[in-house]
Amino acid sequence: MNVYDAVASRRAVRRFTDAPVPRETLERVLTAASRAPSGGNLQPWHCYVLTGASLAEVKKRTAERVAAGDPGDPREFEMYPPTLKSPYRERRVAAAEQRYAALGIPRADERARRQAVAANWDCFGAPAALFCYIPREMGSAQWVDIGIYLQTLMLLLRAEGLHSCPQMAWSVYRRTVAEVVSPPDDLVLFCGVSIGFEDATAPPVRTARAETVVFLE
Ligand SMILES: Cc1cc2nc3c(=O)[nH]c(=O)nc-3n(C[C@H](O)[C@H](O)[C@H](O)COP(=O)(O)O)c2cc1C
Repeated sequence: MNVYDAVASRRAVRRFTDAPVPRETLERVLTAASRAPSGGNLQPWHCYVLTGASLAEVKKRTAERVAAGDPGDPREFEMYPPTLKSPYRERRVAAAEQRYAALGIPRADERARRQAVAANWDCFGAPAALFCYIPREMGSAQWVDIGIYLQTLMLLLRAEGLHSCPQMAWSVYRRTVAEVVSPPDDLVLFCGVSIGFEDATAPPVRTARAETVVFLE
């Protein structure tokens, strides 16, 4: 698969089969992703890859919290600015509307929407997940490094026929993830990435992109 195809075919997939992802494949992808660039070559990412019993435990404990109506742990970073201005607000709303429409969930069906959100904490059925942490003292430039690393990883997954979904939603139940992975105290969970084979019965969602580039000559 060439790079254009990998970029074009990567999507946030939200329905996976339970087909296991071979350990060797994950190791190959992670070794290759380690070549991602970072300012000063800091490589500020710290990753935990969970499959099998460890991932099942995270999902189970989180599902219990979700079922109990637990609003989650104190947030360690803002997922979005508190007031999202135009055009970003509209883009966010449009992406959500498109997703719910594809799932056949009407705007007024709060319960179905909550269930769709809760699927985050089952990794959308994926049999593997990566949890990506960054040291607390790092600044915004290093958070960018994390993004570059994660996109590199997601494109390599495409080259292996795998799909993924990056999920900041995991920061909501970060303490449950920490109970299982035991990260050092100075690390902040940025996101999880669900990894697996796409369930072909999932409704296809192709999100829009805005015009964001100006050429000058
Ligand atoms: C850093 C980051 C965090 C995200 N967090 C979530 C999440 O918690 N749950 C989710 O369903 N999608 C999440 N997404 C997926 C985005 O909604 C998705 O990438 C965006 O709508 C564009 O769609 P596409 O990836 O299918 O092209 C996240 C994406 C990124 C890059």
